[in-house]
Amino acid sequence: MEFVDTPGVALVTGAAKGIGRGIANALAAAGTNTIIFADNDENGARAPAAVSKKFATAENYQSFGWLVDLADQDGVEISIDYLVNGAVDVAQHTSIPGIADYDCVQSINTRGTLLVTQAVVNVMEKQEPRTFKSLTGFERELGRGCIVNVVSTLSFTAVPAKVAYIASKHAVLSITKATAQDIAPYFIHCSAICPRWVCTSMYVAELQIRIRYCIYTISECAIWAPPVADFIKAAVPLSRPIGPEEVGDSVMYLCSPASSYVNRAGLPMHAGIV
Ligand SMILES: NC(=O)c1ccc[n+]([C@@H]2O[C@H](COP(=O)([O-])OP(=O)(O)OC[C@H]3O[C@@H](n4cnc5c(N)ncnc54)[C@H](O)[C@@H]3O)[C@@H](O)[C@H]2O)c1
Repeated sequence: MEFVDTPGVALVTGAAKGIGRGIANALAAAGTNTIIFADNDENGARAPAAVSKKFATAENYQSFGWLVDLADQDGVEISIDYLVNGAVDVAQHTSIPGIADYDCVQSINTRGTLLVTQAVVNVMEKQEPRTFKSLTGFERELGRGCIVNVVSTLSFTAVPAKVAYIASKHAVLSITKATAQDIAPYFIHCSAICPRWVCTSMYVAELQIRIRYCIYTISECAIWAPPVADFIKAAVPLSRPIGPEEVGDSVMYLCSPASSYVNRAGLPMHAGIV
């Protein structure tokens, strides 16, 4: 096993497209043996699961599209080394959402993340802990598993007209920290990745709405309704959005032996946006 290898079994929710798909692909390239592309869009999840076989590096690599609706409670019966909670629901863009809209977003983003986490922790805590010996001869404990929650820079701050989404992203970062405390005695790691604009369909829809209705944060106010690409160029120090697989590479780091002492972290990916 190399320093950034991630052998074993991974369950990635929201993997039919966007960031979840990018994460699953990065894990496939990093040597994960089996990846479950879980999504409520089962057909949508089967296609990327099949495509990932082209660049997977593990011998006998297996991948599956799996129907999972985070609104429901299901048990997990297979062993899992890495859980990535990436599925998301996004509310209408209104200043104060209707309560039904709010509840719907929380039931997927917050409650759904907790349900999947509970089911997987029940499995992980019974697994054998793993170890890793680096080329220098240093042997370290990797624990029984690793959980990574995909949150956002909006877990730390706020923008207008996204109350339900922002509440859910703050909540999932809190769930990450509290869960990490609770499962550390079982040597299970739990951290979060906190990206800003990632190039997915959600990002395009989000920016088009914000540009259309001129909904900006104070630091964005100088930029008045330009097209999406110009907006990003002006707002992001690196002049571009994040690629889904770049998020995947950071998740791969959090799952790999290279981060064996990292736990309860919220890793920001914002290229220096203030
Ligand atoms: N795109 C961005 O700019 C950005 C920025 C920061 C954080 N994020 C976070 O990254 C994650 C993924 O976002 P994305 O841009 O890839 O979104 P996306 O809309 O492209 O993908 C979301 C996936 O979740 C699935 N999903 C939705 N409801 C589900 C349910 N009930 N059960 C199972 N699966 C369900 C969808 O089918 C889809 O495949 C989210 O947690 C989001 O909050 C995104």
